[in-house]
Amino acid sequence: MASCARFVSIVASIVSLGLVAGGSASITKPSAFTFSADGTGLQLGGPGLAPEIRVAPNDFPGVIRAANELAVDFGKVLGVNATVVVADWASTSSSKAGASGPRPIIVVGTVGRSSLVDSLAASRNLDTAAVANKWETFSYQVVQAPWDGRDSIFAILGSDLRGTTFGVYDVSEQIGVSPWYWWADAPPTARKYIWASSTGAHTEGPPSVKFRGIFLNDESPCLTSWGHAKYKDSKYGSPFITDFYKRIFELVLRLKGNYVWPAMWSSMFYLDDANNGPTATEYGIFMGTSHHEPMARADKEQGRFLKGSWDWKSNKAGVQAFMEEGATRSKNWSTIYTLGMRGSGDAASATLTSSALEEVIGWQQSTLTKALGKPLSQIPQAWVMYKEVPGYWQKGMKVSDDVTLLWSDDNRGNIRRVPIANETARAGGSGMYYHFDYVGDPRNYKWINTIQLQKTWEQMTLAYDRGIQNIWLTNVGDLKGLELPTAHFMALAWDRNSFEDPGSTTKWLKTWSGGQFGEVAAEATAAIMTTYGRLISRMKYEDLSRTPFAFSTTNYDEAEVNFNDWTDLLAKAQAVYDGLPAGAQDSFFEVVLHPVMAGRGVYEIYTKTALGAKYADQHRASANQLARDVQSAFAADSAITKRFHGLLGGKWNHMMDQLHIGYNNWQDPSSQTLPRLTYVTTAAKNALMGVAARGNAASFPAAATLTLSPPQSPFAPPGRQSWLDVFARDNGTFTYSVASNVSFVTVSSPQQVLTAPGSASDARLLVSVDWAAAPSGSSVAALKVSNLNATGTAATVLVPIDNPMLPADFTAGHVEAGGVVSIEAEHFSAPPSDASYVVVPDYGRTRSGVRLPTKSASQAPAKGPVLVYPFYTFSTAPAAAALTIYLSPSENANPSSPNRYAFSVDGGAATTVQPVPLGDAGNEPAGWSDAVVRNAYVKTSALGKLAPGRHELRVWLLEPTMVLTKLVLDVGGLQSSLLGPPESMRVGA
Ligand SMILES: *[C@@H]1O[C@H](CO)[C@@H](O)[C@H](O)[C@H]1NC(C)=O
Ligand SMILES: *[C@@H]1O[C@H](CO)[C@@H](O)[C@H](O)[C@H]1NC(C)=O
Repeated sequence: MASCARFVSIVASIVSLGLVAGGSASITKPSAFTFSADGTGLQLGGPGLAPEIRVAPNDFPGVIRAANELAVDFGKVLGVNATVVVADWASTSSSKAGASGPRPIIVVGTVGRSSLVDSLAASRNLDTAAVANKWETFSYQVVQAPWDGRDSIFAILGSDLRGTTFGVYDVSEQIGVSPWYWWADAPPTARKYIWASSTGAHTEGPPSVKFRGIFLNDESPCLTSWGHAKYKDSKYGSPFITDFYKRIFELVLRLKGNYVWPAMWSSMFYLDDANNGPTATEYGIFMGTSHHEPMARADKEQGRFLKGSWDWKSNKAGVQAFMEEGATRSKNWSTIYTLGMRGSGDAASATLTSSALEEVIGWQQSTLTKALGKPLSQIPQAWVMYKEVPGYWQKGMKVSDDVTLLWSDDNRGNIRRVPIANETARAGGSGMYYHFDYVGDPRNYKWINTIQLQKTWEQMTLAYDRGIQNIWLTNVGDLKGLELPTAHFMALAWDRNSFEDPGSTTKWLKTWSGGQFGEVAAEATAAIMTTYGRLISRMKYEDLSRTPFAFSTTNYDEAEVNFNDWTDLLAKAQAVYDGLPAGAQDSFFEVVLHPVMAGRGVYEIYTKTALGAKYADQHRASANQLARDVQSAFAADSAITKRFHGLLGGKWNHMMDQLHIGYNNWQDPSSQTLPRLTYVTTAAKNALMGVAARGNAASFPAAATLTLSPPQSPFAPPGRQSWLDVFARDNGTFTYSVASNVSFVTVSSPQQVLTAPGSASDARLLVSVDWAAAPSGSSVAALKVSNLNATGTAATVLVPIDNPMLPADFTAGHVEAGGVVSIEAEHFSAPPSDASYVVVPDYGRTRSGVRLPTKSASQAPAKGPVLVYPFYTFSTAPAAAALTIYLSPSENANPSSPNRYAFSVDGGAATTVQPVPLGDAGNEPAGWSDAVVRNAYVKTSALGKLAPGRHELRVWLLEPTMVLTKLVLDVGGLQSSLLGPPESMRVGA
């Protein structure tokens, strides 16, 4: 194969780049603990028995705090709390150390700081080398004969404040306390026994990404209203006081993160509670401020404390004094300083030029060194390349190497940029500011989880592998509702290497679900949330109100099949919920059942509104039932919100206050409004008959003859059957009867009584063809649908039949039906090698995605690894065939080498297509809005005439920054739809 030589060079580049650093955990950790009565190793807990946890008084206060939480976590699992002893154990004489008798002992300490750990390490069997002098690394193990009179203890060691804290929290999670025990009410696992295995140390860290965290943003109405109800407001009116942040910091640390951008819409982190800054530092959290809040000062401080306007050009002295105060105030607290400047609020500045911005950053850096008394290399600094900001950089700005370039996504989860050229050599490295929630164009999405985890995996592993390893920060909105994507993002950031396998998302999801809801629910929950991710990737809730409705109500049964998928999903989620112990149900509701149930409700509203309009055009009496269903779904939506707010005695009241139905521009609607519903009059009670046929906008009696579309074919997409609907067009009762003019075409329910109103007003008749009896080639059968109560009233439904011969030697590939060949990207014939393309299972809207390995070099058209798709066509009709390629909405993340693919048919010359224009770095490219709304770039190329017979489509992805999901060949039958036709029959699969 022509591609072999090229393929070798890709592999070589993967090997030579290698995988940098990273921890050693895996998604499914080898169990360091066991829980049966007859365990082995060191017993840490049993009936009435919990350990004593020893910490040195000279360890970090944050470590002592975490040790106290571990003691309570043992209590949650065992029913009896551990105790914490903070004492100077420097002298580990037998009498002192053994004084507490047979109780198991856990030593917690920071290597190089804790007198307890250091004296143990000096004298006994404790090897600290795996941890010492590393960044955020921990290790835990059973230590034999730690001191005289003690056989063994359990030791949790950390390299620094966060390393030790992560070690403590990791043990907590392993014994059965989820990081989400409070924020998502995950029940602790009750255990009678806990044993630590003595098979060696479990070590994790340093993390893949140095700074990892979340941004609480778009925090009104939900988080803010909830906060007002729960906490005492600050003197400035914000509920986000230290008691609130302690919960946030604890969660972030339990997720092994270390970085937070605080809520800022109407809050001032450092002023709302004087303890906020020092508490973050005690916990070990680095605080930052958002992209338009430089130098650790909140936007909202400007209105109170800035003298003059927020404008470098006209008010440099005022702006400098304001910024300097930010540096001085925070000098003793762990902080990552946001540098640069934007306009007022989240907007571009009208006056800042590239050279002015260079001056701003230069001044900020000299101010930081003065205020903090440290060299720049010891001060974490980030310049957020968000919205218009990359435009300044593109113009050739010089920014000191110590600054992390914090790149961003497009607010819809598509990263805008990977570091290129010598950007990867910056001492400050690169970061990624990502979004799980957003306020802005094309529409807000701030209600519930709309994230497909596979997409996060795909984009963030790309980011990491292309050098974005210093900061990962994701916007989590109100946090509540986004538990799952947040947990996944943090796990990836902690240990990217354990996510090497493209199928790792589902494995992780299963492990995570087990930790949340118990092992019995793990597998089913992972399957449910994988399907949820696929369904919500088709369109976010807020985008559904666009007209016309995005899912076709005419072609490929698209709207109906999609809604049925939601209904099936709800049944599965409800079944898992029903089978869970009561203690796990609230948590499952919050994270799984609620988004599935509430999400399905919103889909019901828009799907049935669109179907209802079509039904009303057909004058179906059941249009009125669809309108009532929509109203019920609207009422149910409020009831579901109320149910959420009533959980656990109102613990989460207001967390689902976000309006989400009735968007008509990017901003939230001011109230929830239903789309316009359509009703029909049913006063005459004449029991009129109507008939609709698949693929037809028109219906009987407006059209006397209908033609089923697409034609019947033995090669039709599996699982999809053609149909006609017979329905009442008025109240009353009638009997219909269907006669076929050929014996090999039959319908289900050929005769039935229909009554409107009620559930028997419509019948769907499935059409079957007996292919053994059908004539070969093309023919047309006719079904006559008569109303037996109204002589002479009959519809004719023509049934075109294509019964072509597929040669027996076409043994692998997709087969045309209805003038279309639809191919899921992963269904190529054998690729040149398994490693030359990566299939990402469960990615995107329909099945999966295919991409080059993240570190591949750019490929040349017709040369690199190729995806080969054999297919067979029968149609002779069209003058020109066309190829439509469906790609994820990935941006040109490498602007020096924009996304491109090439294709050829039957060995012809390759055509190269660049799906996304290269825009200016400060703006989204043309076509972006449509692409992110439908979560795909859809590109069609003319192919010229394609003779009937066997063909071969070859496709080359030329950049690793893009993902192929689907390919559709139109040989004269393609109908419009959101997702494209269902996949064609594939022989040899
Ligand atoms: C463990 O300690 C916590 C905090 O003091 C307390 O609320 C809890 O009731 C204790 N649990 C048990 C099982 O004693
Ligand atoms: C990258 O190249 C530019 C232009 O040659 C130079 O000014 C800059 O210092 C280089 N940066 C690094 C990190 O090497």
